Amino acid sequence: YLNYRVPRTRKEIFETLIKGLQRLEYRGYDSAGVAIDGNNNEDKERFIKLVKKRGKVKALEEELYKQDDLDSKADFETHFGIAHTRWATHGVPSAINSHPQRSDKRNEFVVIHNGIITNYKDLRKFLESKGYEFESETDTETIPKLIKYMYDNRESEDTSFSALVERVIQQLEGAFALVFKSIHYPGEAVATRRGSPLLIGVRSKYKLSTEQIPVLYRTCNIENVKNICNSRMKRLDSSTCLHAVGDKAVEFFFASDASAIIEHTNRVIFLEDDDIAAVTDGKLSIHRLERSASDDPSRAIQTLQMELQQIMKGNFSAFMQKEIFEQPESVVNTMRGRVNFESSTVLLGGLKDHLKEIRRCRRLIIIGCGTSYHAAVATRQVLEELTELPVMVELASDFLDRNTPVFRDDVCFFISQSGETADTLMALRYCKERRALTVGITNTVGSSISRETDCGVHINAGPEIGVASTKAYTSQFVSLVMFGLMMSEDRISLQKRRQEIISGLKSLPEMIKEVLSLDEKIHDLALELYKQRSLLVMGRGYNYATCLEGALKIKEITYMHSEGILAGELKHGPLALIDKQMPVIMVIMKDPCFTKCQNALQQVTARQGRPIILCSKEDTESSKFAYKTIELPHTVDCLQGVLSVIPLQLLSFHLAVLRGYDVDFPRNLAKSVTVE
Ligand code: F6R
Repeated sequence: YLNYRVPRTRKEIFETLIKGLQRLEYRGYDSAGVAIDGNNNEDKERFIKLVKKRGKVKALEEELYKQDDLDSKADFETHFGIAHTRWATHGVPSAINSHPQRSDKRNEFVVIHNGIITNYKDLRKFLESKGYEFESETDTETIPKLIKYMYDNRESEDTSFSALVERVIQQLEGAFALVFKSIHYPGEAVATRRGSPLLIGVRSKYKLSTEQIPVLYRTCNIENVKNICNSRMKRLDSSTCLHAVGDKAVEFFFASDASAIIEHTNRVIFLEDDDIAAVTDGKLSIHRLERSASDDPSRAIQTLQMELQQIMKGNFSAFMQKEIFEQPESVVNTMRGRVNFESSTVLLGGLKDHLKEIRRCRRLIIIGCGTSYHAAVATRQVLEELTELPVMVELASDFLDRNTPVFRDDVCFFISQSGETADTLMALRYCKERRALTVGITNTVGSSISRETDCGVHINAGPEIGVASTKAYTSQFVSLVMFGLMMSEDRISLQKRRQEIISGLKSLPEMIKEVLSLDEKIHDLALELYKQRSLLVMGRGYNYATCLEGALKIKEITYMHSEGILAGELKHGPLALIDKQMPVIMVIMKDPCFTKCQNALQQVTARQGRPIILCSKEDTESSKFAYKTIELPHTVDCLQGVLSVIPLQLLSFHLAVLRGYDVDFPRNLAKSVTVE
């Protein structure tokens, strides 16, 4: 956060930073830290105050209030402070390993980092050989040390801050979003990214002088660490920049995610890989290392539509609960302006120009991780039916591990709520290299996946903050079904089926409300189950994905063992687990697999199993054998999964609360997995 000619007290600056961290806490949360300028001491020597703490942001906040100078009334007319929450990749969660990381005991340079530096061992060896002493186990610590090295070896006194950062990132391999602060450049900020998201929010009372920021280029080429000191950089051209007109009072907010800054401004610039953004004298400039023909020559200031209340919990006890209950509206938002129920047509604006190409393709490959992958499993059958194309569904990590053959006439879909998942992003780049057409299905405008794909669909579910994905799943599901409907518009033989599905979509929001009204009953079920160690979820056909997704929800937030089992596989192993004690949930819907599911039910009850059955309201057969039933409204077979997953979302929520866990912050997990 940088304020320029906007007087702020130290307390206000802390509060801005802490609030921002709290909004981002869902991404990672084992430790947190801040850096702001200290009060000048008697010698008027500048210093950076660093406060870091293991634990949640709350712990850091409490630590800050213990600091004696927090309440100092000193105004900072211009000031730059940085803060970070960490989710450990290298080194255990601890204050020393948390960010900001520093160059030396004087805190000459401090850095916050989101991502992973893969060549940190080489860099550390090099820096240690030059006498730099390391204090943490992190990959990040190489960065402040490296910039100090660049500073100590700079060729001229007036080498700019951004020129130093430029030199640093040329040495880095891996993924990063970085923000730098230094006592040598007071009131100046430099930020850069490669592979991890970073945006800049701008707030000013005054009209901005430009809505487009031209990108500047400098030519420089440093091959490796050894020749760093011999290199000659071109000086910065500071003529193109953003500044506020009038008295130029302006505030800049650098963040990995818009939710951290949305309460201050909705005017943002999304940085691209290898952009170096610098604020000097209240002016923002953006530079790049190299010019390439495909580069966009400017970065636009965009206005985000997100509102603060969208990211607040409201009357719910957890974001996850709020997001489960938002599903009647979020699916409507996914369909809004796209499904025309009068004419039974579907138009996905982001795909329409590529439709011909998609129809001609050899096969569809749908790639994602976790819940997003389950959305692909859930819709595979209806996509095969409506597109009449072979459809492969792939976990991004496995797809890459196998070096899966991909051809120019393949169409590859990348499903990701965050749009930043590293495995999915790598799979996207892999498919692009092989010239396949790439389609993004994301929930985050401006995310890496939505920007790097050839075309795509925003699912419009609204911000999802709970780590366990819920409303994004149902919106991804609906988006993929809409795609199938759009593809089959001209197929006469499929019109009846299309009509049936479109009617199903129309009644979906009301049916979701009906399922949500079962919350109390599901809470009672959770009271019976919450002390169990295991919970199996079994089903087949259209509802197999529900079992996988339900089991994932249960394991990730309740820490119980849970497994989604394909009922067709029962006899091939899982049946051995069934006895009187083992809790089993069976998903049995009135669809083409109904009879086969009844067989599975017989096998379970024959082994004294006591199944809890999710079934259709009008199904009297299954309930005869059930220990308990949860009855759901009946919809068209291929949409039933949108309804059948909701009781399992609710069940996992109640189980986690009863077991005393923090539903929104499950241990070891983060919302946005930006490392492989
Ligand atoms: C589970 C969950 C994860 C994500 C996965 C992919 O509740 O949220 O399994 O689905 O990490 O994330 P996105 O969709 O952001 O690519």
